[in-house]
Amino acid sequence: MPEISNEKSYADGKILQHAGDGVGVITFNNPDKRNAMSLEMWEGFGEALTALRDDDAVRVVILRGAGGKAFVSGADISQFEKTRHNAAASEEYARRSVAQRALLADYPKPTIACIQGFCLGGGMQVAMLADIRLASQDSQFGIPAARLGIAYGYDGLKHLVSLVGPSWARLLMYTGMRIDSAEALRIGLVERVFPEDQLWGETMAIAETISQNAPLAIKAAKITIAQVLKDESARDMDAIKAIGTACMDSADFREGRQAFMEKRKPQFQGK
Ligand code: COA
Repeated sequence: MPEISNEKSYADGKILQHAGDGVGVITFNNPDKRNAMSLEMWEGFGEALTALRDDDAVRVVILRGAGGKAFVSGADISQFEKTRHNAAASEEYARRSVAQRALLADYPKPTIACIQGFCLGGGMQVAMLADIRLASQDSQFGIPAARLGIAYGYDGLKHLVSLVGPSWARLLMYTGMRIDSAEALRIGLVERVFPEDQLWGETMAIAETISQNAPLAIKAAKITIAQVLKDESARDMDAIKAIGTACMDSADFREGRQAFMEKRKPQFQGK
């Protein structure tokens, strides 16, 4: 992991955030519990996401876990007795984390989950809400809701089904089994798998490529793909048209054309 100079901390240091060269990084930092997410961490995660969203210099955000053993091992089960012991408590619990998940689901910038180690339960939900998932060879994935007696919820399952299809979603959910990176890659749960010692470098290389491309063109792709995934009746075709117009009328499109003709690297401004 690289030297970090401008790190900010949330949730008593259990969520860390830094940014440089157009790339924002959020680290789940509770390695003693394999980065299990407490409610305070969910809230801190939301604050970190908001800070990077509002930082104009940041063009892409990477999510990762500290400690090398886990991305996120799910919700912090030790809080359940107090905060999630029945349906009413669960509803209140969900309310405190739902805003942060919505923030990630509707994030205006590209997001990458960089997964090393266990990615379980609520950790899978975070990873599946990211645009792209990159994993180390030694990672393990699973949703042990059936082992705990938890209903996983609509949004999490919607993403699971859209990534791996209904049959794999059923196999994973009914058994609570864990699968390794090779299998996760095969079924479409992750996009790329790297040896442990190459994961961070490869993730940064992809993030830097994204950060140097035209932000409006990326936004157009992100908005359009999100609409493709909705039911036809719920699709916002006007949003697609608006970003398409903004993109094709942009100074960046002019810069992209000119740079190509002049055989130089384009410098995009996001407008
Ligand atoms: N919530 C709370 N604590 C957790 C946790 C979670 N989701 N996941 C791990 N921990 C804690 C363990 O209780 C243990 O604490 P201890 O040191 O005080 O005993 C510590 O993290 C290390 O976990 P351990 O099980 O010893 O490590 P491991 O490397 O053998 O296994 C996991 C790691 C993640 C596979 C295992 O801890 C696990 O199955 N966790 C629960 C995962 C889960 O069910 N998630 C879904 C929640 S909805």
